[in-house]
Amino acid sequence: MPKLHVIIGSTRPGRLGLPIGSWAAEAAERHGGFEVELVDLADFELPVFDEPTHPRMGKYTHDHTIRWSEKIKEADAFVFVTPEYNYAPPPSLINAIDYLHNEWLYTPVAFVSYGGVAAGTRAVQVLKQLVTTLKMVPIPEAVSIPFVFQAMRDGQYHPAPESDQAASAMFDELLRWATALADLRANPPAPVMPPAPAAAK
Ligand SMILES: Cc1cc2nc3c(=O)[nH]c(=O)nc-3n(C[C@H](O)[C@H](O)[C@H](O)COP(=O)(O)O)c2cc1C
Repeated sequence: MPKLHVIIGSTRPGRLGLPIGSWAAEAAERHGGFEVELVDLADFELPVFDEPTHPRMGKYTHDHTIRWSEKIKEADAFVFVTPEYNYAPPPSLINAIDYLHNEWLYTPVAFVSYGGVAAGTRAVQVLKQLVTTLKMVPIPEAVSIPFVFQAMRDGQYHPAPESDQAASAMFDELLRWATALADLRANPPAPVMPPAPAAAK
C-alpha cells in the first residue's frame, strides 16, 4: 500500500491548518487506499533555509534537515494542506519544500486549501508551478474550502458534504498517480549536480 503524508503547511499558533489537516488525514484513512501519516511542519522547527549547498547534493549539515529528509523519503504521495497568505502559500511551506530535492522526485501531490472567497486556490496555483521544478506531479482534483471560518466550530473543522466528496475523488486520483509513478521513484536518473562555483582569482 503506498504511503501518504498529509502535510500541514502553516505553523503559526492557533492555525486552522491543524484541524483541517487532521480531517484530511482521517478522510484519507477512510478512503483506504493508503498508509496515512499526518505530518505537522511545526514539529520540525525548520529555520529559514540554512544549508550551504543545493539540496540536490543531499549533503545536509543540520539535524533539522536530516530529520525532515528522512520523513519525506518515506512517502509515495503527498497532500499539502495550505492556507493562502497574500495570494500565495505560507512561507513555512515554501521553505520546507525548498529544503529538499531528491526526496520529492516523481511523487504526486494533491492540495487541500482554505481561505476566503478564493478558498486558497491562488496559493495552490503558485504551489503547482513550484512543485513541477521538483518533478512532482500536481493533480487537479482538490479540496478547496471557501470562507473557512464559517466551517469551524469549537476548534474543529466541520466539512460541507461537497468537501467529503471532493476528498474521495482526490484520493482516488492520487492513488492512480502514486501507482503509475512507482517505477520512476524506484529508478531515478543519476542526479545532475549544479556547476561548482568558479574559483576566486
Ligand atoms: C499573513 C496572512 C495573509 C493572509 N492572506 C490571505 C489571502 O490572501 N487570502 C485569503 O483568503 N486569506 C488570507 N488570510 C486569511 C487566512 O485565510 C486565514 O487566517 C487562515 O486561517 C490562515 O491559515 P492558518 O490558520 O492555517 O494559518 C491571510 C492570513 C494571514 C495571517
